[in-house]
Amino acid sequence: MTAYLICVLFLFSRVNSLTYDPTWDSLDTRPLPPWFDDAKLGIFIHWGVFSVPAFLGAGFWWSWKGQPLPAIVDFMQKNYRPDFTYAEFAAMFTTELFNPEEWAEMFQDSGARYVVLVSKHHEGYTNWPSKYSFNWNSNATGPNRDLVGELSAAIREKTHMKFGIYHSLFEWFNPIYLDDKHSKFKKRNFVRTKTMPELYELVNAYKPEIVWSDGDWEATDAYWNSTNFLAWLYNESPVKDTVVTNDRWGSGIPCKHGGFFTCTDRFNPGKLQTHKWENAMTIDKHSWSYRRDVRLEDFLTIEDLLSQLVSTVSCGGNMLMNVGPTKYGKISPIYEERLRQLGQWLRINGDGIYETRPWIHQNDTVTNNVWFTMKKAVAATAVYAILLEWPDNNLIKLGAPITSENTTVSMLGYPETLVWTAGTFGKGINIQIPYVSVKTIPCQWAWTFKMTGLQN
Ligand SMILES: *[C@@H]1O[C@H](CO)[C@@H](O)[C@H](O)[C@H]1NC(C)=O
Ligand SMILES: *[C@@H]1O[C@H](CO)[C@@H](O)[C@H](O)[C@H]1NC(C)=O
Ligand SMILES: *[C@@H]1O[C@H](CO)[C@@H](O)[C@H](O)[C@H]1NC(C)=O
Ligand SMILES: *[C@@H]1O[C@H](CO)[C@@H](O)[C@H](O)[C@H]1NC(C)=O
Repeated sequence: MTAYLICVLFLFSRVNSLTYDPTWDSLDTRPLPPWFDDAKLGIFIHWGVFSVPAFLGAGFWWSWKGQPLPAIVDFMQKNYRPDFTYAEFAAMFTTELFNPEEWAEMFQDSGARYVVLVSKHHEGYTNWPSKYSFNWNSNATGPNRDLVGELSAAIREKTHMKFGIYHSLFEWFNPIYLDDKHSKFKKRNFVRTKTMPELYELVNAYKPEIVWSDGDWEATDAYWNSTNFLAWLYNESPVKDTVVTNDRWGSGIPCKHGGFFTCTDRFNPGKLQTHKWENAMTIDKHSWSYRRDVRLEDFLTIEDLLSQLVSTVSCGGNMLMNVGPTKYGKISPIYEERLRQLGQWLRINGDGIYETRPWIHQNDTVTNNVWFTMKKAVAATAVYAILLEWPDNNLIKLGAPITSENTTVSMLGYPETLVWTAGTFGKGINIQIPYVSVKTIPCQWAWTFKMTGLQN
């Protein structure tokens, strides 16, 4: 009896504690927790010491002291003392108007289902009181607050969204990192004393459901110890069953290994991908962080954002849309307007976005700027055609759908079913849109037609 019990306990503990090995072969077999594919839209937040100069973008320090950009060198010469250091910006990262509940409400209102906050960018400053970042953290210098802790609490308490963190593996100017780099990464002191302790600390303290890694490209995944961290994350961490990760875990790894693939910034391939992916993009076309030199024309319009969202979702991706808050803790009104517009559109059209899957066609075969999504249900499979342009004569002609006697068509936000006829040669569908009534539907920057009873 005792021997039997010990044997059962032994088996049980093995199954529970050692599901994944620290190899890509093993880690890549982990199924993506399903919430992520259903969620479709997340909000990315780049906020840190770079939000203080708020000039040209989050690479400010590197463009001043790493690979100097004349515009930034001039800016510093004109506006600061000659011996001013980047570290002095941290005291001016005041965040005095930061109200995490206000952000949480705004992000939820955008229709996003998750949030990814920069916890530490390449400058190394941590937005939480890290034990491993003495003085160069948001509790010790600047806000005197735990920004990661406050936002994660507000997201969890006030919304249904998931909370995730972005974390940069490398730090441009950290002397320990530079020493490892000088040894051609034979030394691993930075990984051992900084990167990994910090990542474990973040996961244990804030239980993020996304670990969005970045800053990997100068060294291999072996240097970063990435597979060991991921095996712990998937086997033992407090978020082992729900956490999702991306693919930026070492040079040569993005687009090949990890959780969902982000490949390159603003990745939007326009065709179906075989692996779950994410389009990490920015509302300000040119910057990840708030910049005072931004112009109105630099912001994507709501039509631009919908075009990104719809093409991304049709091809199997999620969109992670970035906002850059100010150093005083506010999200400026242009960003806010785009967030709320997206939410207005999703409240009417979300049925064709959330929980959908790619269809056999991604865009239409004859009409431009029409993207498809699909949702299987017990009763009937629905195919959604999302139009980014209003059709001539209020008549939409699609080439891809094959109709049957049972085909029905409706438009999201409009109560009546629509009249349709089969296209020529038995393929395609023509839908006549009752323009006068349909144009009273609010916030239609793109239009969703739901078709059931198709033969394909
Ligand atoms: C944050 O800073 C305060 C004031 O300096 C200090 O008392 C507190 O221990 C710090 N918190 C953490 C978690 O380090
Ligand atoms: C890599 O991770 C393993 C497992 O956690 C650990 O034993 C090892 O010390 C780590 N190596 C470095 C350089 O951090
Ligand atoms: C469909 O999308 C592909 C890839 O983006 C593009 O090459 C093609 O022209 C599109 N088709 C139509 C009819 O717009
Ligand atoms: C249409 O629906 C009827 C009743 O459910 C079913 O018997 C028939 O096979 C369907 N026709 C097609 C072409 O799917």
